[in-house]
Amino acid sequence: MTYTFANRIGSLAPSAIREILKVTQDPSVISFAAGNPAAFAFPVAEIEELSAELLASSGAEALQYGVSEGYGPLREQTKARIKRKFGLGNENDQLIITSGGQQVLELSAKVLGNEGDVVICETPSFVGALNAFRSYGLQLAGVPVLEDGMDLEAVEKILASGRRVAFIYTIPTYQNPTGRTMSLAKRQRLLELAEKYNVLILEDSPYLELSYEEAPPPPIKALDRSGRVIYAGSYSKVFSPGIRVGFALAPAPVISKLIVAKQVSDVHTNLFFSMLLSKYLEKYDLDKHISFVCREYRKKRDVMLAAAERHLSGVTMTRPGGGLFLWGELPPGYDGFELCKLASEKKVAAVPGSAFLPDETQTSGGFRLNFSLPTEEQIEKGMALLGQAVADLLKGR
Ligand SMILES: Cc1ncc(COP(=O)(O)O)c(C=O)c1O
Repeated sequence: MTYTFANRIGSLAPSAIREILKVTQDPSVISFAAGNPAAFAFPVAEIEELSAELLASSGAEALQYGVSEGYGPLREQTKARIKRKFGLGNENDQLIITSGGQQVLELSAKVLGNEGDVVICETPSFVGALNAFRSYGLQLAGVPVLEDGMDLEAVEKILASGRRVAFIYTIPTYQNPTGRTMSLAKRQRLLELAEKYNVLILEDSPYLELSYEEAPPPPIKALDRSGRVIYAGSYSKVFSPGIRVGFALAPAPVISKLIVAKQVSDVHTNLFFSMLLSKYLEKYDLDKHISFVCREYRKKRDVMLAAAERHLSGVTMTRPGGGLFLWGELPPGYDGFELCKLASEKKVAAVPGSAFLPDETQTSGGFRLNFSLPTEEQIEKGMALLGQAVADLLKGR
């Protein structure tokens, strides 16, 4: 039997990178490849206690179907929290609970993009978003992520070209994969461009609260006065990704369409975990938990940066103020994919920059390193091994 698949999925080929990442299944491999929170970041004891309470007090409700826009009290708590902390949301906005921040990206593509429309995005960018956009037949137009965020001249060039742009997709704070943060001036300018060319911005910000130094600039959504920004948020990196709870904050007309699209996709987000999270927010101090997690991640980031300084001679590293990743750039002419292959032979895994490119035919001299999951000891050891791989690559072995 030969199977024929729809174009929208047929174009999403499993990449060669998977071969490299397969090595992470070997327990003797040190992996800097994941994007996962550390085990200590999960409030397991509290979740255990709240699960029992929830089943005892409201088991039938928690196990029942729910409404597509999400569990009411959690919507209200989330709305109030992001308003208080980040000035997010005004009288024209509504908030819905989604199955992770990922679902906001997928539903936005479904609701806003016709096949062949362009999405302006960063290059490199989050591959989960890129594949969601590809799966709806959207064309990706990548613009470089500079030290202070998206290259806005490149953005304007695309906007001025007359191609139909569905939206601009950006991860402005502690970007995945580079760790870079867009400056306040650029956030304001990006909004001006969106207004001038009448397009929407999809702001994806799952790392906003993983901040290790001074606070980042306000979210683009908090600066928006004309209802142009859809904000994708998530509890994955600050509570648990396994519960699959994220949210979309957007102008009411956009939210109405996202709800219809969500009904078709998964009816509603897991109600048990939505209720459990709501109880957690009522009873415990999430901010305190996040402060603890940030202190631990900051230590790991610093260990990895110091090790990079010692071992990765010839590589330019970013120094992110938050998030989960460092990004390395090899000298011109060297390929991050080759480096990651050599590294996997030495039993250390990193993700080659080519995995994050909107244009899959290009190569990248970059690679991404995660510091949240490995222990400090593993970071020290893994970076030394990665250093050997870099040295082998640069001297042509
Ligand atoms: C930039 C970015 N956006 C969105 C997500 C999706 O996260 P989740 O669906 O777990 O909220 C991730 C996950 O790694 C990410 O890195």
